[in-house]
Amino acid sequence: MKKITAIYPGTFDPVTNGHLDIIERASKLFDNVIITIAVNSNKKPLFTENERVDMIKNVTKKFKNVSVDFFDGLLVSYAKKKKASVIIRGLRAISDFDYEFQIALTNRKLVPEVNTIFLMPSEKYSFLNSSLVRELASYNANLKEFVPEYVHRKLKEKYTK
Ligand code: COA
Repeated sequence: MKKITAIYPGTFDPVTNGHLDIIERASKLFDNVIITIAVNSNKKPLFTENERVDMIKNVTKKFKNVSVDFFDGLLVSYAKKKKASVIIRGLRAISDFDYEFQIALTNRKLVPEVNTIFLMPSEKYSFLNSSLVRELASYNANLKEFVPEYVHRKLKEKYTK
């Protein structure tokens, strides 16, 4: 039977419990999941590519069919190169919809055989994003509910340098 590879792209600056929720759901649905740190030209990440790869690798160790990669280029070209037929995106709230709809339709225009599949994280993560996590970390807030322990440690290191 044909194996399905899905890519889960994002900036992951840093990976949060909301992302992990999506990763866990995806790992149960697809044969292989590649978490792909991609470049959003509008963002200036706090963490380097290597730091983001390291954090994601560390917190996804238990998922045997999940791997992590970085690429700087067009997402659909990467999907083709990896023979991925699915792009996963998380939909947290209706406010995500317009932006995601635009990206998904653009990607489909470029490569029609790659489908975007939206997964919803648990509602307890529907408000969460990486900017919020970074801001809270800069005030030394307790992030236990929002990010894994390893990521919390890396955030503390960043803000105490
Ligand atoms: N839990 C917590 N936060 C979540 C989340 C979840 N389940 N799902 C999304 N988010 C947050 C992210 O943390 C991020 O927060 P931030 O803006 O505060 O950093 C935000 O929602 C959305 O960002 P993300 O999912 O990382 O996507 P993005 O908009 O930064 O990047 C790319 C989108 C990388 C996929 C897109 O820019 C891309 O494809 N780039 C490659 C070039 C390309 O092909 N461009 C053409 C696209 S049509």
